[in-house]
Amino acid sequence: MKKLWAGRFKGRTATIVESFTESISFDRRLWRYDIEGSIAHVRMLGRQGIISKVDSEKIINGLEEIAGEIESGRFRFSEGLEDIHMNIEAALIKKAGDAGKKLHTARSRNDQVALDLRLYLRDEIGRITALIREFQKNLIGSAERHIGYIMPGYTHMQRAQPVLLPHYLLAYAEMFERDAGRFGDSLKRVNVLPLGSCALAGTSLPIDREYVAELLGFSRVAYNSIDAVSDRDFAIEFLSDASITMMHLSRLSEELVLWSTEEFSFIELPDGYTTGSSIMPQKKNPDVAELIRGKTGRVYGGLISLLTIMKGLPLAYNRDMQEDKIPVFDAVDTLKACLAVAADMVSQIKFKKQRMSDTASEAFSTATDIAEYLVRKGLPFREAHEVTGRIVRHCIDSNKGLTDLHIKDLKGFSRIIGKDIYKYLTAEGSVMAKRSGGGTSRSEVEKQIRRLKKIIAGKK
Ligand code: ARG
Repeated sequence: MKKLWAGRFKGRTATIVESFTESISFDRRLWRYDIEGSIAHVRMLGRQGIISKVDSEKIINGLEEIAGEIESGRFRFSEGLEDIHMNIEAALIKKAGDAGKKLHTARSRNDQVALDLRLYLRDEIGRITALIREFQKNLIGSAERHIGYIMPGYTHMQRAQPVLLPHYLLAYAEMFERDAGRFGDSLKRVNVLPLGSCALAGTSLPIDREYVAELLGFSRVAYNSIDAVSDRDFAIEFLSDASITMMHLSRLSEELVLWSTEEFSFIELPDGYTTGSSIMPQKKNPDVAELIRGKTGRVYGGLISLLTIMKGLPLAYNRDMQEDKIPVFDAVDTLKACLAVAADMVSQIKFKKQRMSDTASEAFSTATDIAEYLVRKGLPFREAHEVTGRIVRHCIDSNKGLTDLHIKDLKGFSRIIGKDIYKYLTAEGSVMAKRSGGGTSRSEVEKQIRRLKKIIAGKK
């Protein structure tokens, strides 16, 4: 196959090298952006009089035809033409002849590929953000449906204090809010036009970059042509945002795996999101949650991969950078798939109300409430902690729960304890008393729901 760059060469590219250097097998997914970018570029070339209006029309028609062919699966991609850019350009030259040969004026694949990846990520960030919003909506919906459900909150995986289940679910909704925010922030740096940087130095031809930026909806042009073709930190930032989001999904998945065990028995996962065992008939396995947890590793891998690819590269473009697309595409696919299944799965989880609240009431989980009761009665917190510790010790020794203690026993630990202490000893009493901002009382949790709903509806 004759190369678009054949002029300087005497010998042919080795076949093994063609397959080694090609990227068409994976960068073909950029075709839409490549064509969109070329059309904008050519409009500008025509407008500036760098090529004739007639030629620019011919090129645009040709590119639109090619788009139709790719869309309908009629286009034949060729490994010999290396990448998406040259596949499309070669097809254009076949269609539009000499006019087609003018497309690559004042452009290099170096600024072209940076452009394509930016256009692609801009679109995908929009889709990912929409999926995150969907997921948050489902978390909030579940929080509303289970508003009075109480569960044990943990620290060190030890039961710590009772909390409302919706409070717990909303903690995840908050994390995903920050994730959406991070993707939104990164858009500012993605949405910058590299085109017009050419290979690295710019061009002597009278191009109008601002016009191209406007046509493609970029907020500005890149200021430095060397930087614009060398920069992949926008993609690294994307991978880092994706990794953080996956980390959150993975933590939630881990909770679901634990909660669905016989030992916890807090939830039942929907049948549609579990699988059976080929040997043990009784099993219902949380494979979907496990796979989300597992796929997190892939996305982290992508981040490390691109960081490593870039760390030793001198400016400007180096072919190593072709390897950027593989982890980026994989992260996009993985994250979107995980968000979609997680969103649907969480909306169908059955929570076992009784089991959760029974567990929340055990293990002296309201001990802190006794200490706070004593503080309200005037005891310094350290002393209150000490007194409560002795009460717990006594319960352990006599095999009793806090609510089993008689008022006389309690008074034995501190005379300031009155009968009113009992309402703080139950899980419900403990939860309802946590009215501090962002706390687990129902009124505070309802505030959180309202706030998140407003944000998601785009009102804030
Ligand atoms: N396929 C290449 C990539 O993905 C396009 C840029 C090629 N540039 C070059 N100077 N060989 O990076």
